[in-house]
Amino acid sequence: MRILSGIQSSGRLHLGNYYGAIRQWVRYQDQGDAYYFIADLHSLTSVKDPKARLEFTKDAVLTLLSFGIDPARAAVFVQSHVPEVTELYWILGTLVPLANLERAHSYKDKIARGMNPDFGLFAYPVLMTADILLYDADVVPVGKDQVQHIEFARDWATKFNVTYVPGYDPQDPTGKEKGHAPGLLKLPEARLEEATAVVPGVDGQKMSKSYGNTVDLFGEDKDVKKKIMSIRTDSTPVEAPKPTADAPLYDLLKLMAPTPADFAEVERAWREGGRGYGDFKKKLLEWFHAQLDGPRARRQELLGDWGHVERVLADGAQRARATATPVLQAVKRAAGL
Ligand code: ADP
Ligand code: TRP
Repeated sequence: MRILSGIQSSGRLHLGNYYGAIRQWVRYQDQGDAYYFIADLHSLTSVKDPKARLEFTKDAVLTLLSFGIDPARAAVFVQSHVPEVTELYWILGTLVPLANLERAHSYKDKIARGMNPDFGLFAYPVLMTADILLYDADVVPVGKDQVQHIEFARDWATKFNVTYVPGYDPQDPTGKEKGHAPGLLKLPEARLEEATAVVPGVDGQKMSKSYGNTVDLFGEDKDVKKKIMSIRTDSTPVEAPKPTADAPLYDLLKLMAPTPADFAEVERAWREGGRGYGDFKKKLLEWFHAQLDGPRARRQELLGDWGHVERVLADGAQRARATATPVLQAVKRAAGL
């Protein structure tokens, strides 16, 4: 099984990125051949400061390695180090119906938030599809907001196969039946962990760097504390039972509890009443450190050995290109290029 996923270098990574995406990546690296990359080409759509981009790319690589992505098992690389992806992107772009791009949720959300759309933002899902198809990925672990993009990737891979693979039947994509040819581009599947599909931010909306409601994974201690203390709560009195619906503090406690027994104890107090929100926030802060101080320390160590990180990326890009090159060659041959 080939596993592939990417994360943009467009800001500092937060709890939503870890619990919604990276944690699954760590698990998946034991289940097959994994490819994980930093989508710096995608970050061009939102970050126009080159220094910041390099900084975010560095930060993202350190994050992956400090949470246990193991370069011996997974190829870890930077998207722009494999230029083949932009060639496939163009070829696919000529097969993508405009109407698909017009109904992309992420695009519509970004415009709704006042972003001035350019061609790159509009074409974002086409580049993401190229990322996935170039490596023959079987599964793509992502958060909920990315699922539609994986569906596009399936549709457009099918479109390519129908257009350029003689004998391809979309009802039989692997060509099992006589007279059918297998697809050249493989149809990927999204993998989503329901429990952490949406991690809430301190204001209760989806945690996202564009909403300014994040708790950063590697923030300074005092900033982490400030963020956790600012989690939105209601005016339920200390003695009263607390509501569990629309309660970001409750959801984050559940997410970060070191063990189910730890959570059960907190949950009892939450439902019985007698403890104030301030106490629960202190508990969350304690759990944040219990869960993240290990990776935070490893990150410091890696910072002191940047040569190692660069070797990891060079090796990752080499492995990625070795996989990508034959796929792109076959695509070009099929398309008469
Ligand atoms: P952001 O919304 O902060 O810009 P990205 O879009 O760069 O985050 O997301 C990178 C990865 O992290 C994606 O796979 C995405 O689904 C996941 N992710 C981001 N925020 C959350 C969240 N609040 N809950 C669950 N997963 C998330
Ligand atoms: N669009 C993804 C995000 O914002 C990042 C990404 C780019 C990606 N290419 C990908 C994720 C390919 C999975 C597969 O999080």
